[in-house]
Amino acid sequence: MTNSSVIKPLTVSFLQTPLKGKINVPGDKSISHRALMFAALATGESHITGLLEGEDVMQTAAAMQALGAQPKRIAEGEWHVVGKGIGQLTEPENVLDMGNSGTSARLLSGILASHGFLSIMTGDGSLRKRPMKRVTVPLSETGAQFATREGGKLPMAIIGTANAKPVTYRLPVASAQVKSSILLAGLNAHGVTCVEEPVATRDHTENMLRHFGVEVHVEDLPEGGKKISLKGPVTLQGKDINVPGDPSSATFMLVAAAMIKGSEVCIENVGLNPLRTGAFDVLKWMGADLQILNERIEGGEPVGDLMIKAGALKAVDVPAAHAPSMIDEYPILSIAAAYATGVTRFRGLEELRVKESDRFTSIVEMLRSNGVQVDVEGDDLIIHGTAGNISGGGEVETHMDHRLAMSASILGLVAQKGVKVDDVTFIRTSFPNYFPLMNALGAKFDL
Ligand code: S3P
Repeated sequence: MTNSSVIKPLTVSFLQTPLKGKINVPGDKSISHRALMFAALATGESHITGLLEGEDVMQTAAAMQALGAQPKRIAEGEWHVVGKGIGQLTEPENVLDMGNSGTSARLLSGILASHGFLSIMTGDGSLRKRPMKRVTVPLSETGAQFATREGGKLPMAIIGTANAKPVTYRLPVASAQVKSSILLAGLNAHGVTCVEEPVATRDHTENMLRHFGVEVHVEDLPEGGKKISLKGPVTLQGKDINVPGDPSSATFMLVAAAMIKGSEVCIENVGLNPLRTGAFDVLKWMGADLQILNERIEGGEPVGDLMIKAGALKAVDVPAAHAPSMIDEYPILSIAAAYATGVTRFRGLEELRVKESDRFTSIVEMLRSNGVQVDVEGDDLIIHGTAGNISGGGEVETHMDHRLAMSASILGLVAQKGVKVDDVTFIRTSFPNYFPLMNALGAKFDL
């Protein structure tokens, strides 16, 4: 449960020594949420290893428990789930609190739309500001009813339907959460649910549904993007799932090591789904010495080990079409751009405005308050690189945003006058052992 009254500020000083070592980052957040949800919807038992035990995923576990499934922790990252079967979740006795987690709220809305009972959903101060209409509008076509606060915000009441109609929908924004939400409602609808996405977004839902035995059809659209369909009602069979390391979490270490002189870091067992690894391409375009080793397929997802060595970084121009494959990585890549030589342009970042914070504005403020020149043109972010001379000395406001907090902490390591971070508590939502791991590499964060 989120305790937003406890605030942990952090002062970070310039790091004079390199980062070195071999680490594993925690399990992928997107895959962990889906593993718990799909296991709860399956018939029979599922066994999950490598589950991320960050607060966001624990909100999903608590919600599945409240809905009658039995997720049980056996050991670190190892969970056993007794599923209820499609359409068999039961009415929760209390409000479902999704904490800081947009993925929990959006995906669960889809599941609840096709269950014939009432649920009430809320979240923390960050999540209660985020748009839910993007899911309630298409999900209303199932016959479910949604009552939200003004502007489509949480808390909201969901009156689901046991006779859900299948939805056909073209996504107006590139969002894996919206796509997944509609597909999940379709699992218990009679007929074909079909989602078109103008640009391909992460496909963990499609991959994992197949792993649980569901037939999911995916077609490339002639004008780009994909069409995904499934015919309900379906049956999911309980399965074993091994969650790979989170590429989004790994990117924090990669960027830190790429910038801090003499660093050499290996991150083992990282998920390499091509719809998630846009940031790795960008780091290579910037000239980073990044190698991907030991590539293999595990549980239907590509994984590998990442090896990075520090070196000079140069500016890049990243097209808008690249955004979905690195949407969570802009805060940390903005630090790499600030450190690089030349002017970087990140294009088409409108979706950054509706993340855990308005990340577009948060990034601009973080960099400007630390002596980095940033221009904004529409939805493009233009960062004037300092060729390794970030002055720092500012305080970063993180607005309940875990990725802002981690990015700001790394900015402090490479800024001459260091950086103050107003609150690092939200890092526990996605990366509970972030500071111990960074310190094991030699970061010297003083908490
Ligand atoms: C996620 C999708 C993305 C991403 C989020 C996780 C998912 O959100 O930012 O951290 O697991 O489907 P959008 O669908 O809003 O782009």
